[in-house]
Amino acid sequence: MASSTLSILILFSLLVVCSFSNAKRSPPKPKGFIFPIKKNETVNQYYTSIQIGSNNTKLNVVIDISGNFLWFSSDDYFSSASGYLPIPCDSKECNIANGVGCILCEFQPPVPKCITNMCADYALNPYSGTQGYNGLSTDVLHVYSTHGQRYNFKRFPFQYSDTVLRQDLASSTQGVISLGRTRISLQAQLASAFKIREKFALCVPSSGHEGNLIIGNVAYNKPIEEISKSLISTPLIRNPVSTSGNEVIGNLTLAYFINVKSIRVNNKTLSFNNSLLSIDESTGGGGTCLRTVRSYTSLHRSIYRALLNEFVKAAASQGIKRVASVAPFGACFDAKTIASGKIGGPQVPIIDLVMEGKNVFWRFYGSNSMVRVSKNVICLAFEEGSPNLTGPTTSIVVGGYQMENYLLEFDVTSSKLRFSPSLLLSGTSCSQFGAS
Ligand SMILES: *[C@@H]1O[C@H](CO)[C@@H](O)[C@H](O)[C@H]1NC(C)=O
Ligand SMILES: *[C@@H]1O[C@H](CO)[C@@H](O)[C@H](O)[C@H]1NC(C)=O
Ligand SMILES: *[C@@H]1O[C@H](CO)[C@@H](O)[C@H](O)[C@H]1NC(C)=O
Ligand SMILES: *[C@@H]1O[C@H](CO)[C@@H](O)[C@H](O)[C@H]1NC(C)=O
Ligand SMILES: *[C@@H]1O[C@H](CO)[C@@H](O)[C@H](O)[C@H]1NC(C)=O
Ligand SMILES: *[C@@H]1O[C@H](CO)[C@@H](O)[C@H](O)[C@H]1NC(C)=O
Repeated sequence: MASSTLSILILFSLLVVCSFSNAKRSPPKPKGFIFPIKKNETVNQYYTSIQIGSNNTKLNVVIDISGNFLWFSSDDYFSSASGYLPIPCDSKECNIANGVGCILCEFQPPVPKCITNMCADYALNPYSGTQGYNGLSTDVLHVYSTHGQRYNFKRFPFQYSDTVLRQDLASSTQGVISLGRTRISLQAQLASAFKIREKFALCVPSSGHEGNLIIGNVAYNKPIEEISKSLISTPLIRNPVSTSGNEVIGNLTLAYFINVKSIRVNNKTLSFNNSLLSIDESTGGGGTCLRTVRSYTSLHRSIYRALLNEFVKAAASQGIKRVASVAPFGACFDAKTIASGKIGGPQVPIIDLVMEGKNVFWRFYGSNSMVRVSKNVICLAFEEGSPNLTGPTTSIVVGGYQMENYLLEFDVTSSKLRFSPSLLLSGTSCSQFGAS
């Protein structure tokens, strides 16, 4: 009797200790996660920093919103046998990753584990176009909630790649982190592990300062919170056919497309063959996608020509003098003839990407449409896209420069993009974006 009471007591106190330490160890359910964004201005790349592995290796990784998964290569990376786990070929994880093959673990990070049937896939360097075939693994990713609490994501998938794959990445970065429409991208993984909405808010900085990426339910700082209440919404659409060799998840592209219906310069609609703006469902060509890994927005040649003509004409009527072009830009101007506005940068004609619906347009002022190439020369920051001669070509690829200092919410779950006007118009910027 006494002994059984005693054992019940022991059991009870053990339970109390267990649940107590458990409560202490597991922080409250997170609502969202926050990552800093920095820009390397030499190469116009936007990157974040992550911490991975049992040694908490800090890595800088370039943000690719149309990429598939995280890949990196770094001599600093090291993990314990319990942290690092290769993904086997015939596993649920391999299925989620949509791995394309099986390999031996001949090429390995400096980790203690090796299996002979590793789930493998191609990692893509979005700048060089180089691909590296290698095994996929998982390790602990340390992430921070919007409330500053640290969480350990135990089995975050990634590829440890050959150092060669890093060519053309900003020198301070070691790989690429992806936010594409896959099941192993950062936001998809965080959403499924922590049962939060598959959604991310992106605010890329223009220079010096830091911007932020927030995944899940977003909490903004005061000035941005006000702005976030009146975002403009447009559907995110999926291109049914891949437009680049790497995008072979089923036959849907990983990239986020929006349905641009027309383009205006100072309210005047450009005239070009409008069928370029819709996606050709049989080839995957045409349409408009968003890519953080392109510096400037590129346009199909005939759209680009129409934009140049109209912009140059509108600029001239404002007394802005055109000067010799500086590659890769097709229209450059004498900076002395351009007034610098109090807000929104140089005072130049306004460019709108117009989408379906009443008053749904993405408006670019001088700070996002013009780039200074020398002391006296400012150029229109749009490029002529180079056509893919062997495959489909996307007509408009919105690049990073045009996204700077806009709040962009990619709601993957409901397939909607919500965007703000330029934050500069409200006297704020992506550097004041952080979570409250
Ligand atoms: C990783 O951590 C272990 C244990 O703390 C340490 O012995 C080892 O030197 C570290 N490795 C690296 C590459 O930092
Ligand atoms: C940006 O990347 C370029 C190219 O790798 C490099 O030369 C430069 O030093 C980097 N800038 C900074 C501030 O890290
Ligand atoms: C896309 O995939 C579906 C299902 O696998 C297939 O029926 C369809 O023909 C494919 N479409 C193209 C354009 O390849
Ligand atoms: C553009 O059009 C809108 C309404 O059609 C008008 O309110 C606005 O003043 C126009 N802006 C310019 C620069 O012409
Ligand atoms: C417009 O472009 C589409 C597809 O590129 C082409 O089929 C069509 O003939 C073009 N229309 C005109 C009027 O040029
Ligand atoms: C061009 O299209 C082909 C065929 O779809 C594709 O394999 C290739 O990757 C594309 N090239 C680029 C630079 O996107």
